[in-house]
Amino acid sequence: MPRSKIAGIGYYVPDRVMTNADMMAYMDTSDEWIRERTGIEERRYADRTNETTTTMGVEAAKIAIERAGITAQDIDFIIFATLCPDYYFPGCGVLVQRAMKMREIGALDIRNQCSGFVYALSVADQFIKTGMYKNILVIGSEKHSFGLDFSTRGRNVSVIFGDGAGAVVLQPTEKEGQGILSTHLHSDGESAEILAMYNPGTHANYWVEKGVADFNNAPIGDMFMSHAMIDQAQNFPNMDGPAVFKKAVVKMPEVVMEALQANGLTPSDIDMLIPHQANLRIAQFVQQKLGLSDDQVHNNIQKYGNTTAASVPIALCEAWEAGKIREGDLVCLTVFGSGFTWGSALMRW
Ligand code: UT7
Repeated sequence: MPRSKIAGIGYYVPDRVMTNADMMAYMDTSDEWIRERTGIEERRYADRTNETTTTMGVEAAKIAIERAGITAQDIDFIIFATLCPDYYFPGCGVLVQRAMKMREIGALDIRNQCSGFVYALSVADQFIKTGMYKNILVIGSEKHSFGLDFSTRGRNVSVIFGDGAGAVVLQPTEKEGQGILSTHLHSDGESAEILAMYNPGTHANYWVEKGVADFNNAPIGDMFMSHAMIDQAQNFPNMDGPAVFKKAVVKMPEVVMEALQANGLTPSDIDMLIPHQANLRIAQFVQQKLGLSDDQVHNNIQKYGNTTAASVPIALCEAWEAGKIREGDLVCLTVFGSGFTWGSALMRW
């Protein structure tokens, strides 16, 4: 059975830089708080009208496709991971198919938030291994800046997130030892509401049980999205940050170890670990727990904030472009996020 390899990789971040000082114009926060708690110095925001989650994904995809030495016409399947799609439906995958004038190929959207890229990569890997497709475009892209609470109420979330996109082309490889060795996916839905955007949605019963809403007496048109929901900021991401932090620092190293053990390897074999860029302190915990040196880990949250499904492909591409990843290197990706979901992917570059 052939393995799949990353044949081309690219990323795109918008030009507009938002510093921590810029965030202070909207909410009660400080450069010191953001740097100390998250490591973030600045993030990028997409152009309000001319850039979307899809258009940024397309920019990253163009680079990945060119580096793979193919054209958009050669792509057999699209997998698009995002939590902020251009539309509630349809997904961004079909918009990429249209924008890049691709053949009438399949397009799948993945809804696994910060874990989205590793989930998408794992799905693509299966299609390649079975021989079903030869060129799969995997994109992670987010335009968070359009859907954040910029009042002080939302500051624990809004200062963290940034916009951007990363993409890879996955192809089969027959080269001995090369390619994705294994992927490992997990979830625990017990804490689904700890990091979530509650509305619009169809979960009326959850709020009725909590006594927060009396949907039985609400006008039918108010159940999906109402003024009351907007007043309660339910249309913005909501997060119990410390609870997410505590789980992430356990699950990320655990799932890296799972990948290593599945392949008879140890942390010292890792040439480059790309952790999801949620918080520099989380990445440092993961590094410390695995006993990795600074040159075995690449972080870039300082410049881009948390770009959710885009964070891993952006950091992976940046590390590769900087010459930190070379052919034959053992590369590990690890993610954790809303759901909770988490995972890892281990590959020989
Ligand atoms: O990517 C997917 C998953 N997301 C994550 O992995 C995020 C994980 N969690 C975190 O990164 C951290 O929990 C945060 C960065 C979100 C928050 O840091 P923290 O050290 O856990 O702070 P906290 O939430 O416990 O809040 C401490 C204080 C609170 O004030 P009081 O109650 O102590 O007076 C917050 O209201 O900091 C306050 N605070 C802020 N202050 C200034 C929260 N956000 C801000 C802010 N600026 N932006």
